[in-house]
Amino acid sequence: MSTQERHLYNHNPFLQFWARTSHKFFHWVDDTFIGRHNLDPDVFDIASTTLPLPRLDAAFDGYRIVHISDLHTDTWLGVERLEQVVRLVNAQEPDLTVITGDFITYRNTTLIDRMAPVLARLEAADGVMAVLGNHDYWSAPEEIQAMLEAAGIEHMGNRVRTLQRGAAALHIAGLDDVYNKRDELQSVMAEIPPHGAAILLVHVPDFADVAAATGRFDLSLSGHSHGGQLVLPWLGPLVLPPYGKKYYSGLYRVGGMYQYTTRGLGTSTFAVRLNCPPEISVHTLRNAE
Ligand SMILES: [Fe+2]
Repeated sequence: MSTQERHLYNHNPFLQFWARTSHKFFHWVDDTFIGRHNLDPDVFDIASTTLPLPRLDAAFDGYRIVHISDLHTDTWLGVERLEQVVRLVNAQEPDLTVITGDFITYRNTTLIDRMAPVLARLEAADGVMAVLGNHDYWSAPEEIQAMLEAAGIEHMGNRVRTLQRGAAALHIAGLDDVYNKRDELQSVMAEIPPHGAAILLVHVPDFADVAAATGRFDLSLSGHSHGGQLVLPWLGPLVLPPYGKKYYSGLYRVGGMYQYTTRGLGTSTFAVRLNCPPEISVHTLRNAE
């Protein structure tokens, strides 16, 4: 999306009106017809995958990463459901929790302030890490970064952190938003030590071709496409966004790397999901030997 398009998206009164009206309409549908079900924990699909990684040291065998994305808290999800998400994530007893961007859709500082104490309750042995998404950059990147800091969440944009189990190492690399050209792959690559498995956090999934071509990443975790969000029977997703068309949902093998794209939690543009429930992803890493 060009700067001009971005400006349009944020300031076009019709688009803003449409987003808010559709939000209100589907909220009414929720309350009137399916509200009870939406407050049921079953509305969130907890999707588990087991990933054998050849470079993973045996010391990290069984390591559990809980992965959430695309909260878009200001549209369908809301802070109340976010509290429910936090409880469900913590119940998975993660070693590490990662959030791959798009915390919000529009700039709403009151709501951003309300998110911090909720996300601060995420509990994981090795902490919580996050990268920002295209909507975060289009709306309020500074406020989102401040919110992450207040919530004790590590911002991983163009950064690497190495987790240790004795001499064994597992590297977590974060790439800043590719859509807004904030990514600095070369500097991230230079920071990753030569040995040990490496996992990439990047908002957009179609970066997988580039990430896999480096030969350094064993797994890449993304969101962005919402699994299509509106998925028609037999026909598949109605619309897929730029950078989210090829690897738009679930697990893929790209060269020697796994790509996992979570369907995310919230919605954008249309405040509804169709045949595409919100997802909390649980990845269990296995030493391939
Ligand atoms: Fe996105």
